[in-house]
Amino acid sequence: MTPSQPFSLEALDTPALVVDLDCMEQNLKRMQTFADQHSVALRPHTKAHKIPELAALQLEMGAKGICVAKLGEAEVMLASGIKDILITTPIANPIKLERLANLYVRYPGARIIQVIDHPDHANAIDSIATKNGVTIEVLLEVECGQKRCGIEVGFGLKTLIELINALPSIKYSGIQAYTGHLQHVRDYQERIKLARISVEPVFDFINTYLTTEALRPEVVSGGGSGTYDAYEGIPFTELQAGSYLFMDWDYHTIGSRNGSATYQDFDCALKVWTTVISQPEPGRAVVDAGMKCLSIDSGMPHVEGHKDIQYQTGGDEHGILHYPESNQGVKIGQRMMIIPSHCDTTLNQYSKLYGIRNGMVEQCWLIEGRGRSD
Ligand SMILES: Cc1ncc(COP(=O)(O)O)c(C=O)c1O
Repeated sequence: MTPSQPFSLEALDTPALVVDLDCMEQNLKRMQTFADQHSVALRPHTKAHKIPELAALQLEMGAKGICVAKLGEAEVMLASGIKDILITTPIANPIKLERLANLYVRYPGARIIQVIDHPDHANAIDSIATKNGVTIEVLLEVECGQKRCGIEVGFGLKTLIELINALPSIKYSGIQAYTGHLQHVRDYQERIKLARISVEPVFDFINTYLTTEALRPEVVSGGGSGTYDAYEGIPFTELQAGSYLFMDWDYHTIGSRNGSATYQDFDCALKVWTTVISQPEPGRAVVDAGMKCLSIDSGMPHVEGHKDIQYQTGGDEHGILHYPESNQGVKIGQRMMIIPSHCDTTLNQYSKLYGIRNGMVEQCWLIEGRGRSD
């Protein structure tokens, strides 16, 4: 899909999802360098981009494997040749169990790890694995304050590990301790403090009760783009950050280590290229990107380079821009870049991502995992 020749951004129709390549490459490098310097394996969460070529780039830069949120995304990534995948969401129906076992049969050289949090998962996975003659590897998700999935840290966790160890076709490899509710806490010191407190019981339990070879987790995976640097001295083996390559306006405002109100660790690389299609009155214009192009689950997106313009959703197809009447610069036909407020839910609405550099379109990737929440 990459264009044979780079072409001018002006020749790209709108609305289009674009990524600033210099910025993305810098974000990728920063996270990989952090992981290398702190001797933690980077297993980037690819739910943010869903593009096999970007996953391959992350691996080339040093990631040890990838995460996907859903089995459908795993199918896409495995088909592209990626061989080390953690599926971070439990599965529970017979169709999915069969699909998981099929992946083991179809990709015998791959490492595919499924997250679970209950004995019912363990028994069901063991049965389907036995039926298909494979051994399915699992991580146990533990509750760290989000109250989403995750078994409570306690003796139920130890019993679950013992159950898995007693079953013939399922292998316990470790623990997933992810704190999704803390990634966007809007103060660096507070965020880091909460992130550490939330996982302390997990590591205390490991150190006290999971000390034998059979119980000790080989893998402890966690961390996101807002808490990747929270765990100094806490022995996570893997970092699961995902959004960092793109970032978004919500992440942009969570605050940095140096006290700044903005997040300076990673810059916003993902944008939506839009056109002003109407200007009904002074101080109000409309762009061709509404909710089908810019998700609003994390607030309104941000119009790049125009501090005095506020974006307000105008429904499915329209984005309304409000600005001071004195701003004479906004014109019908004008192109604008808008930074999404949430990268994952915006990207999932597009089939292509264009890579831009110095005003030229250099890349076009198919978002193959788009819509694969199955
Ligand atoms: C289980 C899990 N791990 C890691 C991540 C990555 O977090 P982030 O995109 O904030 O870096 C997510 C994101 O939702 C997630 O659900």
